[in-house]
Amino acid sequence: TDSHTAGPFIAAIDQGTTSSRCIVFDRDGRIVSVDQKEHAQIFPKPGWVEHDAAEIWTNVQEVVSGALAKAGISTADVKALGITNQRETTLLWDKATGEPVHNAIVWQDTRTDALCKELGRNVGQDRFRRETGLPLASYFAGPKIRWMLDNVEGLRERAERGEILFGTMDSWVIWNLTGGPNGGVHVTDVTNASRTLLMNLHTLDWDERILSSMDIPAAVLPEIRSSAEVYGTAKGALEGVPVASALGDQQAALFGQTCFSTGEAKSTYGTGTFLLLNTGHQPVNSYNGLLTTVGYRIGDDQPVYALEGSIAVTGSLVQWMRDQMGLINSAAEIETLASSVEDNGGAYFVPAFSGLFAPYWRSDARGVIAGLTRYVTKAHIARAVLEATAWQTREIVDAMNKDSGVELTALKVDGGMTSNNLLMQTIADVLDAPVVRPMVAETTCLGAAYAAGLAVGFWQDTDELRANWRRAAEWTPRMDAAERDREYKLWLKAVERTMGWIE
Ligand code: G3P
Repeated sequence: TDSHTAGPFIAAIDQGTTSSRCIVFDRDGRIVSVDQKEHAQIFPKPGWVEHDAAEIWTNVQEVVSGALAKAGISTADVKALGITNQRETTLLWDKATGEPVHNAIVWQDTRTDALCKELGRNVGQDRFRRETGLPLASYFAGPKIRWMLDNVEGLRERAERGEILFGTMDSWVIWNLTGGPNGGVHVTDVTNASRTLLMNLHTLDWDERILSSMDIPAAVLPEIRSSAEVYGTAKGALEGVPVASALGDQQAALFGQTCFSTGEAKSTYGTGTFLLLNTGHQPVNSYNGLLTTVGYRIGDDQPVYALEGSIAVTGSLVQWMRDQMGLINSAAEIETLASSVEDNGGAYFVPAFSGLFAPYWRSDARGVIAGLTRYVTKAHIARAVLEATAWQTREIVDAMNKDSGVELTALKVDGGMTSNNLLMQTIADVLDAPVVRPMVAETTCLGAAYAAGLAVGFWQDTDELRANWRRAAEWTPRMDAAERDREYKLWLKAVERTMGWIE
């Protein structure tokens, strides 16, 4: 905490996959205080992942109060509040009571795999790609809504009567912040809506034909708004503060990294990894397994689109090594363990725990460790774990280069895993391009704060924000080209082994 920083301030809430946090920023985009709380990961069956949305809302309230207390400031010093969130995670709740009707189904969950296959047969893959920019995959929100309507008793009737609201975590947090059952606003922003498989990417509105082919009643859907505007004012701990931005966390990181020009890109290393490239005011179709998505929209300005390469499992593989395998005691230990050996000892770990995302989109894939011999130790596995993140990044970058026709010259990175030096070096090595990290690595919250600040005139324009970006670290490639090619081939061979595991 820097008690010498003078206000006023902007606060941002990041409702993420493993934790919720609140960060208070000053006018220079510097962090004044942070508070964070983890929530339970619920795994009812193989491939299923859920969150308790009531627990999440309690945590959000706690971290907001916590961050204000640590900063030693009151609500009067907070000019606006921004929201950013794990995307696609799907919740339905009762409008009158605020009670969730089921645990939230998390983006990593694969239970809608069969449903997606069926929709593909009946409606066709192409229609979804064309209208929404997304492949039909269990990752996205729409099929998760449909699953709940089909599996929670009596829910469809209640939904059709208008008693049920759907939201991703942005909608859930904003609705609760602005009063919940007592006047809460039911909205989402274009970036979050662009991950549902239900929004038309060209009109930026819900697509009626897709809604009817998926059998989802329009009555449950929130209103789609821009990413930076005042949706309402907060009640409770932040009484009276304008709630002024919402962006999916990856889009928020793009914003926080100030990738405001066409051709600028960032990669965020969290539970998963997401590389987004700003493609300007036109959506660009992908022919190489990337997603077309909304990057952000400030008020009534034209929307900015992005191409995205999504990787489901990166940081969560390290957590799995710690929590399920007990091979390390803390996430940081993965680097120490991996550094104790020269190489991977011949082992390759493809963490297809949620199927494979970009560029494959195979919900039928499951994880493998390939190349095992009696020689391999846990240190080699630790190395293979880190290399998995690096090679998955390489596959995305290759797809980006093909789709955009532009060679990547440097990669801007952020997120928790960027504190791992060995990983950052490995990424630079396998990309054969420098990797750079900004001073404020909390770009997700920063992006939400920037958007909220723009909405209330705390910052004037994006040029002012750009001036805040400062380089903190850089890793330059030093891997031999022949070795890189040899290793890449083995990685791709291991990836082959994961596909078609689920019949
Ligand atoms: O699409 C999922 C993504 O938004 C989750 O991000 O940082 O919570 O892993 P994160």
